[in-house]
Amino acid sequence: MARYFATVARGLESIAARELEGLGAQSVRPEFAGVAFEGDRTLLYRVNLWARTIFRVLVPMAEFRCTSPEMLYREVYAIEWEHYLSPDHTLAVDCTGRNEQLNHTHFSALQVKNAVVDRQRDRFGTRSSVDVATPDLRLNLHIHRERAVLSLDSSGNSLHRRGYRPAVGSAPLKETLAAAILEMAGYSPDLPFLDPMCGSGTLPLEAAMKAANVAPGLFRNRFGFETWRDFDVRSWQQLKQEARDARQSELPAFVGGSDRDANVLEQAKTNAEFCGFSEAISFRCIDVRHLEAPFDRGLLICNPPYGDRLGDRQQLGTFYKQLGDTFKHGFKGWTAYVLTGSKDLAKRVGLRPSRRIPVSNGGLNCTLLEYELY
Ligand SMILES: C[S@@+](CC[C@H](N)C(=O)[O-])C[C@H]1O[C@@H](n2cnc3c(N)ncnc32)[C@H](O)[C@@H]1O
Repeated sequence: MARYFATVARGLESIAARELEGLGAQSVRPEFAGVAFEGDRTLLYRVNLWARTIFRVLVPMAEFRCTSPEMLYREVYAIEWEHYLSPDHTLAVDCTGRNEQLNHTHFSALQVKNAVVDRQRDRFGTRSSVDVATPDLRLNLHIHRERAVLSLDSSGNSLHRRGYRPAVGSAPLKETLAAAILEMAGYSPDLPFLDPMCGSGTLPLEAAMKAANVAPGLFRNRFGFETWRDFDVRSWQQLKQEARDARQSELPAFVGGSDRDANVLEQAKTNAEFCGFSEAISFRCIDVRHLEAPFDRGLLICNPPYGDRLGDRQQLGTFYKQLGDTFKHGFKGWTAYVLTGSKDLAKRVGLRPSRRIPVSNGGLNCTLLEYELY
């Protein structure tokens, strides 16, 4: 059994914990912006391949008191790096957190990198190069008060980069957040799903992937652990094959997205095609205000523009009111969710929300409002 730590967006800890338990993780413990858990190496690979709501899986390798740059350097230098990488492997170091003495994450990361390569140079006369984009070994340093945790990053690039979305519209949702919102809304694959302002299609795509039991990691071409010394290629190939076999050929119910912007909708279609969903997801170019429910009941989720990044507040006020009217008259029998960063605009919807769920969207404090439409 090894100890792992999944990093997640603030507020998604309990959703991620549930997901990890479902994937077979042991001793699952939600913490701040992350979830600690235990498991074997196969579980580590499985979580990277299947988890929809987490950013990365870290493997803690050293934990120490750290109250000065010199202390950090000494502790890292003392680690037997020869077991993890040789000078012809590339390296990158990320850092999160700070304390009084180490208050620049970039500087702290540099200290770690220097300690690793200095040790290599002292032993072999040569050192690893830094490759921030696709290193053979990515390290993560987290500083909290007087403690530092150094981990290997098994994911490499953040897992929200599924690899299916080369094309993005304006202000796209992170894939991990879209997946978490579907969980919050209790999305069930047998219920029709619609995002009437779908942009690059993140919500319909994540819904379809869940409904068809598609492992989100199948579209990525690289995970951090694939260049580790202990990489078990057979077990990884087997997990990927099992995941390919587990994909359902059809969606149990309607999954659709619409948007008034034809260009952005083309991006959504390109992304869907990349995932093999060009036939399965229905895309339509239409203004939400002219839309009517395609079925008697279903789940609608959208994140309309709310002014911080797109659009103009006053016009948006009118638009939110019209959105409320569309829900009320065109979507009876449905449950609608609106993700917005503006309390004022949310009020303009003019319907009483049955739930308000706080959600952090890329650092912005947003609310997911639930409306039961009778
Ligand atoms: C914040 S973006 C949604 C991003 C999307 N969730 C994604 O991940 O790419 C808002 C979207 O609403 C669309 N939109 C704005 N007004 C609309 C309207 N009246 N009818 C339909 N779509 C609209 C925009 O074209 C834009 O794509």
